[in-house]
Amino acid sequence: MSTTVVDLRSDTVSQPTAEMRTRMAQAVVGDDVYGEDPTIKELETRTAAIFGKEAGLFVPSGTMGNLLAVMVHCHRRGAEAIVGDLSHIFLYEQGGASHLAGVQLATIRNQPDGTFSLKELRHKIRNYRDCHEPVTAMVAVENTHNICGGKVIPLAFLDELATLVREPGVGISRIALHMDGARIFNAAAALGVSVERITRDFDSVSVCLSKGLSAPVGSVLVGSKVFIAEAHRLRKALGGGMRQAGILAAAGLVALEQVVPLLGKDHEHTKRIAEAVDKLRSPNIVVDLSTVHSNILLLEIKQAKLTADKFAERLAIVEPEEIAAGVTDAKGAGIVLKASARDWEFMRLVLYHQVTDELVELAIKKLTYVIKQYDARWS
Ligand SMILES: Cc1ncc(COP(=O)(O)O)c(C=O)c1O
Repeated sequence: MSTTVVDLRSDTVSQPTAEMRTRMAQAVVGDDVYGEDPTIKELETRTAAIFGKEAGLFVPSGTMGNLLAVMVHCHRRGAEAIVGDLSHIFLYEQGGASHLAGVQLATIRNQPDGTFSLKELRHKIRNYRDCHEPVTAMVAVENTHNICGGKVIPLAFLDELATLVREPGVGISRIALHMDGARIFNAAAALGVSVERITRDFDSVSVCLSKGLSAPVGSVLVGSKVFIAEAHRLRKALGGGMRQAGILAAAGLVALEQVVPLLGKDHEHTKRIAEAVDKLRSPNIVVDLSTVHSNILLLEIKQAKLTADKFAERLAIVEPEEIAAGVTDAKGAGIVLKASARDWEFMRLVLYHQVTDELVELAIKKLTYVIKQYDARWS
């Protein structure tokens, strides 16, 4: 049986565009460890300018960007970084801050909108007055917030956070603000403001090129010249000194020029799927439309006999009856919809550049069929 696959597991499965492949083939490159790759330099300079920061550093991954930020901001021994308990840094980076950088991560409870209580933060900041304690050197915010469902962090929260950490007497020395901006361009597209405005008060931002922006590899860390000089040094120690990687940076430049302006389309697609699921009024699979901010959609499983894993498994197979019921593409091929389980209760769908209008319609067809099947079983 022939099938069409709609892969919505993550925006990391996005593919380089045709223009990226062309520009990668044509990229002028050099040994970047010697500082001789003009395409990497262009990507770093251009990204820094977009964020209104002094300098940028091309790194292989978002994980390395975040780790470098921790290493530079928390360089003193006994330092601590405060991060959300649902943040990527805490959950999905193997605790690299601890086992590679020797920095303690302290968590603060993420609220469903990806923010955290500033009052709680005030209490958590440790300022060295008691020699039993570590010293808070950094606070990180994830924007958009992945596990919270692509939530865009409100500007008012970021402004209040900056005011709080800059208050005299908070912290022994200046507390650095870092933004895990893996999907920061999605936040900007959703808010209709520049990334520079969003990250204005942040000392560093790690920006991923390889997620919704479709580039095959890489992130850029931006910040002050002094910060980037130190991160540059430490990148080498982490094995992130790359050579003729301008081939990769070339794709990143295309991402900034051509994919960033189109992110709104991914958000529209996400909403379209959310609205289609909502319209079904299923007692088993529920979506809260007010929580759909960007390119990540969480579907909640309300049926005790079903888990997100099982739901995802079902969407990825094609039953013969589906073909008979017309749940196919225009050529009669069955629809395989790939999604990922966030946990037991929530299934995650993520939209990106290559998911066209047609693929969105196929995803809706498949979801509608399977959800109605569940509703017939568990009404
Ligand atoms: C919010 C967030 N930060 C950081 C990363 C890490 O990026 P990478 O996979 O490039 O290491 C991810 C990856 O999905 C992410 O979602």
